[in-house]
Amino acid sequence: MTRKSCAIYTTGFVCAHLLIVGIALELSLQEGEIQERWRKISEVTLTERGQVFESWKNPPPSYLEYYFFNVTNPEVFMAGGKASVKQIGPYTYRVHSSRENVTFLENGTKVYALNPKTFVFVPEKSVGDPQVDIVRTVNIPLVTIMNKLKSSSFFLRSVFSIYINRLDIKLFMTRTVHEVLWGFKDPLLTKLHSTKPEVDEYFGLMWKKNDALEGESVSHNGEQNYLDYVKIDMWNVLREMSWSSSNQSNGTYGTFFHPLTNVNESLYIFAAELCRFIHLAYVEEVEVKGIQAYRFAPRGNVLTSPQNNPANPTNCVPAGECLGTGVLKVREGAPIVVSFPHFYQADPAYINAIDGLNPNKEEHETYLDLQPMTGVPIRTSKRAQLNMILKRVTGFPKTRNIAETIFPIMFVNEMATIDDEPAAQMRSLLSLILRKT
Ligand SMILES: *[C@@H]1O[C@H](CO)[C@@H](O)[C@H](O)[C@H]1NC(C)=O
Ligand SMILES: *[C@@H]1O[C@H](CO)[C@@H](O)[C@H](O)[C@H]1NC(C)=O
Ligand SMILES: *[C@@H]1O[C@H](CO)[C@@H](O)[C@H](O)[C@H]1NC(C)=O
Ligand SMILES: *[C@@H]1O[C@H](CO)[C@@H](O)[C@H](O)[C@H]1NC(C)=O
Ligand SMILES: *[C@@H]1O[C@H](CO)[C@@H](O)[C@H](O)[C@H]1NC(C)=O
Ligand SMILES: *[C@@H]1O[C@H](CO)[C@@H](O)[C@H](O)[C@H]1NC(C)=O
Repeated sequence: MTRKSCAIYTTGFVCAHLLIVGIALELSLQEGEIQERWRKISEVTLTERGQVFESWKNPPPSYLEYYFFNVTNPEVFMAGGKASVKQIGPYTYRVHSSRENVTFLENGTKVYALNPKTFVFVPEKSVGDPQVDIVRTVNIPLVTIMNKLKSSSFFLRSVFSIYINRLDIKLFMTRTVHEVLWGFKDPLLTKLHSTKPEVDEYFGLMWKKNDALEGESVSHNGEQNYLDYVKIDMWNVLREMSWSSSNQSNGTYGTFFHPLTNVNESLYIFAAELCRFIHLAYVEEVEVKGIQAYRFAPRGNVLTSPQNNPANPTNCVPAGECLGTGVLKVREGAPIVVSFPHFYQADPAYINAIDGLNPNKEEHETYLDLQPMTGVPIRTSKRAQLNMILKRVTGFPKTRNIAETIFPIMFVNEMATIDDEPAAQMRSLLSLILRKT
């Protein structure tokens, strides 16, 4: 999709939204009446004819910036000392997403869609060439396998330990940025594959994610209640994670919100990077390209320990092994933990356990700037960090001396800002509406 056609879709969407908002303001309708209007103006709801539908099907591209933590002193850490890291990045990718196989269900009140995504590297927004730049980071396959073998027999662990030594596999691996992201043939996984064919020989953080179907959704289309507008009703990915947290039926993809958002509202969005829905609360008014917007950011307790926020029960899986504030386990039994970048808003113990971290609001906060009248997000930045729990594993002498650490691997910043052309359109339409009322 070209830039031009994106701008058209975005504009169409903006105009359609302003249309109903304009009506609502002019007639100073009560909420029930607004809803009635909303129901009648079918072009602006997610029906196949609507302009909104077009921009929903083909949203403008967003940018994903990847930052890695290059480990500078692996020997020191292996000997029981404090690890030191140096941030490298950004390596930026443009993400094209679309919604395909769109099917209307339940008399058109719900929509089913697949969400394929394509990633294209953007050299001019990156620090280097991911195919050339080297990063030294935690050997994720090794740590994952060691963790799996934790409860197996001593014999099996010994055999495995011998493998690791024979293949000279270390706790830290040195790979290109491209390999870590998009996949490489891992010697240990290959060895396992020879006896267990269901194990993939390749590993990469984004392995098989390019051109992949991210998920399926069934959304309300706003005909019944404008507050339900494009809220997610179901997300297949999440059904697999039913153990994770309580109720996940609220929230949107972060592309669409209902119009007439007010400062007392809490937005509920799906943060794919954190594998969960999070609440965003109003913070302040901001201006983006001449448009007034409300900034919404996660509330302080999004990633708190379960003692303070019962919505995060997984932080105590397995039982008794709880994590503190600012870090979250994402998968049962896997030593994987998410946080905000540089452990922003986390327990200082995590930040101080590693040299080279510098959490700050400017670079590490997640936020969403929403034009309140239309409910159109005009700038967003979603940030999350991937970490691994490194600790001593009995049966693996190499880990004998290491101090238990939540080790940062990389973080990602997903950004989108309204294009200049639709921004100009929105400015003039907003001033038109405000003059009328
Ligand atoms: C999507 O639609 C295409 C063409 O109609 C079909 O070939 C394909 O199998 C569908 N994909 C899924 C996952 O349903
Ligand atoms: C669809 O519409 C028909 C007729 O209006 C109604 O009988 C039926 O219950 C509706 N189905 C759903 C799922 O809303
Ligand atoms: C990361 O660290 C390794 C090992 O010290 C070094 O060879 C590499 O150049 C570093 N990468 C970058 C991008 O600076
Ligand atoms: C989640 O929502 C369903 C209904 O949508 C309800 O039955 C269930 O009790 C809720 N679970 C929790 C943990 O709130
Ligand atoms: C979902 O939304 C409803 C109403 O919009 C709210 O009462 C409920 O608390 C929300 N559920 C969660 C888990 O936030
Ligand atoms: C938000 O809440 C405050 C305090 O409850 C109230 O004074 C204010 O009118 C509310 N604003 C809106 C837009 O609802």
